[in-house]
Amino acid sequence: MTDVLVVGGGAREHALAWKLRQSSSVDRLLMAPGNGGTAAIAENVPVAADDVDGLLLLARDRCVDLTVVGPEIPLAAGLANTFQQHGLAVFGATREAARLEWSKSFARCLTQELGVPGPEFKVFSDAPQAEEFVSRHQGPIVVKADGLAAGKGALLCKDREQALAGLHLCMRERAFGAAGDTVVLEECLVGPEISVFAFCDGERLSPMVAACDYKRALDGDHGLNTGGMGCYTPPTTWTRQLQEQVQRTIMQPTVTAMTERGTPYRGVLYAGLMLTDEGPKLLEFNCRLGDPEAQVLLPLLEGDLLSVMQACVEGDISRYESNWSDEACVGVVLVSGGYPGDYRRGLPLYGLRDIDDDVLVFHAGTSVSGTGNTLLADGGRVLTVVGRGNDLSGARSRAYANIGKISFEDSYYRRDIAELASLPQGTPPESVR
Ligand code: AMP
Ligand code: GLY
Repeated sequence: MTDVLVVGGGAREHALAWKLRQSSSVDRLLMAPGNGGTAAIAENVPVAADDVDGLLLLARDRCVDLTVVGPEIPLAAGLANTFQQHGLAVFGATREAARLEWSKSFARCLTQELGVPGPEFKVFSDAPQAEEFVSRHQGPIVVKADGLAAGKGALLCKDREQALAGLHLCMRERAFGAAGDTVVLEECLVGPEISVFAFCDGERLSPMVAACDYKRALDGDHGLNTGGMGCYTPPTTWTRQLQEQVQRTIMQPTVTAMTERGTPYRGVLYAGLMLTDEGPKLLEFNCRLGDPEAQVLLPLLEGDLLSVMQACVEGDISRYESNWSDEACVGVVLVSGGYPGDYRRGLPLYGLRDIDDDVLVFHAGTSVSGTGNTLLADGGRVLTVVGRGNDLSGARSRAYANIGKISFEDSYYRRDIAELASLPQGTPPESVR
């Protein structure tokens, strides 16, 4: 039997814990820090997801057999390296492998060398040189902070003036701190976007189903960027042929190169892609499952999640056959009024008992009240409601019929997730955001 620690406290980590709980080999399941939903299926321990030393103490103290890392920050901070140095098994990339996410310039330069399709780009660490380049440029351009910026570091600029403003924000005002001291300036690509995932053992890939997420706060893709307002799978654009092409031209060459550099990639590799007229192009790599993508992908995994994770850690997924249901899944995120800006915390949540049995609710910003019997909305993104069905429209109806039953003061959610008539098409930028 295996004792597992899941690091993180969002709906992605609740979905990971829910799926791991289905494994007959999982014994104790600890969450650090977890949330109001994980408290029902695991033991929440109040150690922050970025407290690598605290997590190490916890894993050693509780004799954890496998640690599964949800978010990127602990991976970028070297959690996997530290745990491995202490002989502890971790599902997640080392700091060197996670560089594919924490340095956009590294990922761009490596993939360019490998001939992976992506936008034209230039890297600058000197503000006057970047400004000089932009002042000679015409048309849309993307200004990206090199480092981790909580999903906010890509500024889509429609013209030179906006690009100069974006550079000012990054390099002179240092709005993203050190993460913006180096910038990547990229050609602005247009097309539908998809998120593609694979389990990786340091050499081989086992692909998952792909998904589409919605980053903007409001219907019709308006409003501010958020951590993700909803998601669905499968994308209508996704075919077996496209999956093979992405694997062959983008994912596998990168993984092979990481092995050859002596920094093998183990964990989940996530590629954000733009499906352009010239074929799929790489927007970015991430070193983890997406949120809210995990909430719609994991329910479709027919195999045992613990086994595939252990196979990745042991460096051989060739013996693992991962089967994915060909059903559809739609996830809609319920958020607090004001999010992604300021919002109130500690508001009682109603309606969770009325959810249909075949619908899943993954918690993020929830907590249990001091008296232990009331669930409270306690974050920006509060929970994800996931409906399954034979097709997107059936899955969508289930998700919406149920999210409508849950509420708290000022809560809101997007009404157009997976609405086929309005699937996001990657519109050209209107403003710096
Ligand atoms: P990133 O932080 O790299 O994932 O970028 C965030 C979002 O910005 C992506 O999901 C895309 O919608 C958009 N984006 C990033 N790079 C580009 C690009 N080169 N062209 C067009 N849109 C982009
Ligand atoms: N859904 C986007 C992300 O997890 O980065």
